[in-house]
Amino acid sequence: MAPQRPRVFVSRRLPGDAVERLAAAAEVEVWPERLPPPPAALARHAAGADGLLLLLTDRVDAALLERCPRLRVVANMAVGYDNLDVDALTARGIPAGNTPGVLTESTAELTWALILAATRRVVEAERAIRRGDWVTWEPSFLLGRDLAGGTLGVVGFGKIGAAVARRARCFDLRVLAWTPRPKPVEGVEWVALDELLARSDVVSVHCALTPETKGLIGARALALMKPSAVLVNTARGAIVDQAALAGALRERRIFAAALDVVEREPIAPDDPLLSLDNCVVVPHIGSATVATRARMAAMAADNVIAGLRGERLPNCVNPAVYG
Ligand code: DGY
Repeated sequence: MAPQRPRVFVSRRLPGDAVERLAAAAEVEVWPERLPPPPAALARHAAGADGLLLLLTDRVDAALLERCPRLRVVANMAVGYDNLDVDALTARGIPAGNTPGVLTESTAELTWALILAATRRVVEAERAIRRGDWVTWEPSFLLGRDLAGGTLGVVGFGKIGAAVARRARCFDLRVLAWTPRPKPVEGVEWVALDELLARSDVVSVHCALTPETKGLIGARALALMKPSAVLVNTARGAIVDQAALAGALRERRIFAAALDVVEREPIAPDDPLLSLDNCVVVPHIGSATVATRARMAAMAADNVIAGLRGERLPNCVNPAVYG
């Protein structure tokens, strides 16, 4: 009898050739809907799987793993993996993979799109036209903030933070950065977080979401920022305390914010942030380019295939499983 092929559950349709790559190595089942599998459905489909290829909308915890006796690998199609209980995976000897590097430049580009949108009020200006509010050229209509000569503060200096900082030179900005373990980087001044918040004209968030960074940018941090400053977050929503941010924006204690990520995604249509003209929100599209999403899917597939073969994952977030 031919040996049984491993089974892989993929929690959404994927761009590029990722599913074909997987199909060469395993029986593949793809969740066909636009919305993610609800937790019970994920558990049901994962129960018989040897490998899982998941998105950041899918939660893996100890309870789910209890139901997956065959599981040998979990791959996230994302660089962030706060949706995975890494300790629970490690305790079961299951390697977990992510997709670092391939989305760095796309996310940095989107960050700059948001920095420019917030400082120059691009979205607000476009909305003004649509409601018939462009009646003439006016000296004081829709005035924004200059970037040249100002200061960018980068919170969290991994690959994406560094890519955002590199682009700051083109805009003639000085760069401050804060990270728990700084290394010398030309043109970057390392400072304490409070100093970064107080001196920056643009504060851009790029750290991972961990218990330590949850709510890092809360009421106290926002109060340290300049009234003319802009906050941008393309990392994870929960790093910013959203209620505190809404208050600061409403009372014009900071100039504006632009967010690719929010605490609860998708944002509710009646969320207070959406009623503020000094807040831009986009739907977690940092890595959303044709080429980048195809590379992310392929990388996640390669992690799954390596795990099924018992090889080390090319990008593993819990190398402790290899002893
Ligand atoms: C990630 O990869 O973590 C992004 O948030 C989605 O691309």
